[in-house]
Amino acid sequence: MLKGVHLTKSFGGLKAISSLDFEVDKGEIVGLIGPNGSGKTTLFNLISGFYRPEKGHLYFKGIEITRKSPYAIARLGIGRTFQIVRPLPNFTLLENVRTAVLYGRSGIHNTKEAASRAEEILGISGLLEKKDQYPLNLALEDRKRLEIARALAMDPDLLLLDEVFAGLNEKEIEKAVAFTFEIKYRFDLTIFMVEHVMKAIMGACNRIIVLHHGAKIAEGMPEEVAHHPKVISAYLGSQYAERL
Ligand SMILES: Nc1ncnc2c1ncn2[C@@H]1O[C@H](COP(=O)(O)OP(=O)(O)O)[C@@H](O)[C@H]1O
Ligand SMILES: [Mg+2]
Repeated sequence: MLKGVHLTKSFGGLKAISSLDFEVDKGEIVGLIGPNGSGKTTLFNLISGFYRPEKGHLYFKGIEITRKSPYAIARLGIGRTFQIVRPLPNFTLLENVRTAVLYGRSGIHNTKEAASRAEEILGISGLLEKKDQYPLNLALEDRKRLEIARALAMDPDLLLLDEVFAGLNEKEIEKAVAFTFEIKYRFDLTIFMVEHVMKAIMGACNRIIVLHHGAKIAEGMPEEVAHHPKVISAYLGSQYAERL
């Protein structure tokens, strides 16, 4: 579904992504982890066309997307959330999601039909009761849900989730994992997710890719990756690894 070959992206002298090769297969939930500043958001910006790599290639469903615009990439079926949420502030939640329906891939061009689709998606996202509120009045958790709702409304095949589960307690993490599975099956998605909450990533993902200084240092099933010595020293710290 998604393939990166020798991807490199620098900012000045800093290689944020360094000769990275990776793949995400159809139907997978792949986790992307790594310390702060390891290049996770930069990789999502490359995939979604917000940044262009200096070197390397990106393919989505067999089509080269390396130099395509964000608009064209979204049209092909890659949806994303932003780590720093980006709602349309003067629109209600319903209007935010309806806009995404109208400009997305659903083929819906009638505002009434779009509003009813938007309500359905707000319902799945747990925001239906707040549909007439404005995004800036929401708590962070709900703003993150709105990011997901807007991405889902575009009707993507591949969804990139960038730290959408920040600041949750144990119980909420379980719900978040269940929610990830629910949207995957309901929307027939492939999911590539960045998450700091280790429990969420371990529970939701069938495969994990670990970045450190823009390079892949490990990849595999959650348990394998958690006990990988490079990961422990680079990212988790030995104390954390012992608790897993
Ligand atoms: N637009 C930018 N301009 C300059 N440096 C950037 C920019 N975006 C990211 N970086 C740098 O690239 C590195 C990777 O950042 P980022 O991809 O945001 O990391 P992560 O999401 O893993 O925390 C960091 O050192 C960061 O400071
Ligand atoms: Mg980030």
